[in-house]
Amino acid sequence: MIIAIDGPASSGKSTTSRLVAKKLRISYLNTGSMYRAVTLYFLNNNYSLEKDNVLEVIKSIDIDVSDSVEKESIILNGIDVTSKLRTLKVSSFVSKISSNNLIREKMVEIQRKISQNKSIVIDGRDIGTVVFPDADYKFFITASIEERAKRRFEELQIENKSVNFEFVMKEIRDRDYLDSTRELSPLKKANNAILIDTTHLTLD
Ligand code: CDP
Repeated sequence: MIIAIDGPASSGKSTTSRLVAKKLRISYLNTGSMYRAVTLYFLNNNYSLEKDNVLEVIKSIDIDVSDSVEKESIILNGIDVTSKLRTLKVSSFVSKISSNNLIREKMVEIQRKISQNKSIVIDGRDIGTVVFPDADYKFFITASIEERAKRRFEELQIENKSVNFEFVMKEIRDRDYLDSTRELSPLKKANNAILIDTTHLTLD
């Protein structure tokens, strides 16, 4: 059974997905973390997005993703990078990386492989539209931009990151714009996905 959950930045997709997977005792995969890990790799090594370079870099990337609800871990070429993926720097650059077709092809291949022969909740932007168009259940989770910025701001404050609310809102707005206007696999509700607006909903 595949449960696809898509939606814009900070809409609560991953927290909801993890809880659903836990409740159903099935696997969970956060595809956003995969694009974030690739972004970190490009940033750390100052790689360009020029085609030949991307082809080379992709060959040298080994991403091992845990599909467990208990602990999310992303191992990039043998190193656990999980705690480094949600910085504003990575967030500001990830849409550029995720709009690259060669990178997307490789990520989608890994996502389909991980999900083979198992029941899984998988969240992202294109899961119900492109990665698993025949998913058994599809949801599109959203919330107002103000509410999403508030949630992300509070999350960053808990992590003791000093950030400005307007800056967080701009980062989310810019990323949504880039993700939903890109040519390839844009952020979009699948026609047969159930829309859930969580602006006035608690997590439960
Ligand atoms: O956690 P948040 O909602 O802020 O974002 P995320 O799920 O970690 O995704 C980070 C970025 O990865 C998105 O802004 C997209 O650019 C990209 N992404 C994508 O293109 N396709 C996916 N299936 C998942 C994420």
